[in-house]
Amino acid sequence: MSELIQEILQKEYLEKADLVAMLSAEGEDRQLLFEQAAAVKAAYVGNKVYYRGLIEFSNICGKNCLYCGIRAGNKNTHRYEVEEQEVLDAARYAWENKFGSLVLQSGERSDKAFVDRIEHLLREIKALSNGELGITLSLGEQSEETYHRWFEAGGHRYLLRIEVSNPELYPKYHPHNKKHDYRARLDCLHLLRKVGYQVGSGVMIGLPFQTAEDLADDLMFLREHDIDMVGMGPYIEHEDTPLYKYKDKLLPKQERFDLALKMVASLRIMMKDINIAATTAMQTLDPLGREKAVKVGANIIMPNLTPTRYREDYLLYEDKPCLDEDADECRRCLEARIHMAGGEVGFGEWGDSKHFKKRKESGNS
Ligand code: 5AD
Ligand code: SF4
Ligand code: FES
Repeated sequence: MSELIQEILQKEYLEKADLVAMLSAEGEDRQLLFEQAAAVKAAYVGNKVYYRGLIEFSNICGKNCLYCGIRAGNKNTHRYEVEEQEVLDAARYAWENKFGSLVLQSGERSDKAFVDRIEHLLREIKALSNGELGITLSLGEQSEETYHRWFEAGGHRYLLRIEVSNPELYPKYHPHNKKHDYRARLDCLHLLRKVGYQVGSGVMIGLPFQTAEDLADDLMFLREHDIDMVGMGPYIEHEDTPLYKYKDKLLPKQERFDLALKMVASLRIMMKDINIAATTAMQTLDPLGREKAVKVGANIIMPNLTPTRYREDYLLYEDKPCLDEDADECRRCLEARIHMAGGEVGFGEWGDSKHFKKRKESGNS
């Protein structure tokens, strides 16, 4: 075991070089990193895992991110929109099964019909659950007015991944135009904060050309922006995307998964009281991926509630799990997995980010 990692893990403030060492830890050092992350998790957020039932209600997207399987330019994807009643049925299911919260996710659109539809849906979901279901939105870049309207209608958390925090790298993974502008995305994160949301962000791990230094910068970005909740997972190639041509430059899947796990552990050690998701992409690369993430720091899981017949059209990346399962199967499966990881489901609780609460109390919004 190296003295170095032990020293690093005790530090109050982790510098970039410390994070790079943590992300590169092998053998006993790696074990130590995971143990420390588990201890921090137990001390600061406990062993409860909170559900966010995920409804991927449309794959229609106006953007063209170079990594994403539902990018506008992918003509092989059949586009769908789940009709309102089915979304409401899924929300009711979440409420009846005490999921506590929902995530509404779709491709990015900002036309009036879309904005109105979401506002209406939010009010309907709040009404059918007596205001009990918490709602996280994951609907991309929008105007301040839109964010405000959706907040007023009942959305109280918003997930907008920065994807890659380095403005110089951002154009490697996105088209070079106004729709895919790093500055605009960053501005949206600030707007969300200003409007009053619990703000979530995150990055992809193991992109072609990305280094451990870049990932350390990503972690520092999340700290610098005082993010309340994080969803991050491994990048997974998709054949119908421009980034696929670099597939031979990627880390092998098990190593990529391990890097993602070290990112989760390092983030937990660095930002002790935030919410961290065990993302579906983790499970794509390792059959026990989500359990492993829960063990080293994650405390949020998103059971899939998208009606089964739409799931195969929401393929952001290859080998996405749960394509043939329905809500009941995913619910049972996940509860068993969480127990296996030594966790307990926080049924009927919102499980808001403790970090957010602290921030509110200290008036530092
Ligand atoms: N691999 C992993 N994650 C991806 N996402 C999109 N495409 C991929 C991919 N190929 C993630 C992005 C986005 C979220 C909804 O899905 O981070 O924010
Ligand atoms: Fe659209 Fe999001 Fe995919 Fe980008 S990552 S193409 S915004 S769905
Ligand atoms: Fe969907 Fe396991 S979470 S089948």
